[in-house]
Amino acid sequence: MKQVAVIGAGTMGNGIAHVFAQNEYDVRLIDISESALNKALSTIEKNLKRMVQKDRITEADVHRTMSNISSHTSIADSLAQADLIVEAATENEETKTRIFKEMDQHSSPGCLLATNTSSISITKIATVVQNPERVIGMHFFNPVPVMKLVEVIQGYNTSKEVAGQVVSIAENLGKIPILVKDYPGFISNRVLMPMINEAIKALEQGVAGVREIDSIMKLGMAHPMGPLHLADFIGLDVCMNIMNVLKDGLGSDYYAPCPLLVNMVLAGKLGRKSGEGFYIHLAESKEIRVSEMFH
Ligand code: 3HC
Repeated sequence: MKQVAVIGAGTMGNGIAHVFAQNEYDVRLIDISESALNKALSTIEKNLKRMVQKDRITEADVHRTMSNISSHTSIADSLAQADLIVEAATENEETKTRIFKEMDQHSSPGCLLATNTSSISITKIATVVQNPERVIGMHFFNPVPVMKLVEVIQGYNTSKEVAGQVVSIAENLGKIPILVKDYPGFISNRVLMPMINEAIKALEQGVAGVREIDSIMKLGMAHPMGPLHLADFIGLDVCMNIMNVLKDGLGSDYYAPCPLLVNMVLAGKLGRKSGEGFYIHLAESKEIRVSEMFH
């Protein structure tokens, strides 16, 4: 297996393209937006150079990795030779099913069709393709070059052979694949998101402040980031949408996104990507300070 197509050049798409290219796959990165593609390529180069500075790789490795990636704006023209396609487009069911129809139409019959969805049912996405046994979830974590896990999600019709192939591919990338069944939120987000929602509820109830809640989870539980900082990092809209998937899919109001989370999303306070969430995020800087709203 040598050629991989990655659809979507956002944060996850560029990270996925990065790790495949660094591991000698021929990567076709596809996005409708030329500027998103250019931004993705410069992000990949920047992240590779960060590794050069740490003496982990050489300038020649950067050059080799970058030369393994080509960028394309048309799905139809880019999939014929692919052995695996990883869809990493916007987390929206309509968008993903539209893209999967195109993947089905333009790929070779033996090509594996993976989605990086964080919450949409693999079994449902697979209903739009002719051979649902080749559809699978390949859930990467942000930042993709750093996080070891690939949560591999077997849809109801995914074949054992396809699951085995995807596990081997993830291992070839130096990742640790873990197989789970297709159930709302899979394992990662079923466990992570209620924790984040609970931290927001505690903040809303005035039990403790932003820094205190995050510090408790960092110092007491050895989490690299506190739950409110992590919510900002993931995107508050993403957190809210996943909670709604859990609420509907598991049929319990226990999973309802809390009112403060919903209000912040409505107010456009989406976290790092909008510049403000629980913290203020200064562009191009790792520095953060607690938003005025929570003083
Ligand atoms: N690309 C490549 N490397 C990166 C990177 C990137 N975008 N961002 C950070 N790194 C590397 C750095 O070079 C550094 O490498 P080193 O340890 O080998 O020297 C390492 O990551 C740590 O980076 P920093 O020292 O700059 O910063 P931190 O120590 O603060 O770590 C972090 C940053 C890795 C993001 C860490 O805070 C962390 O692990 N946070 C939790 C991340 C997490 O939980 N991700 C999952 C989110 S959920 C998700 O993605 C699923 C979805 O469905 C919601």
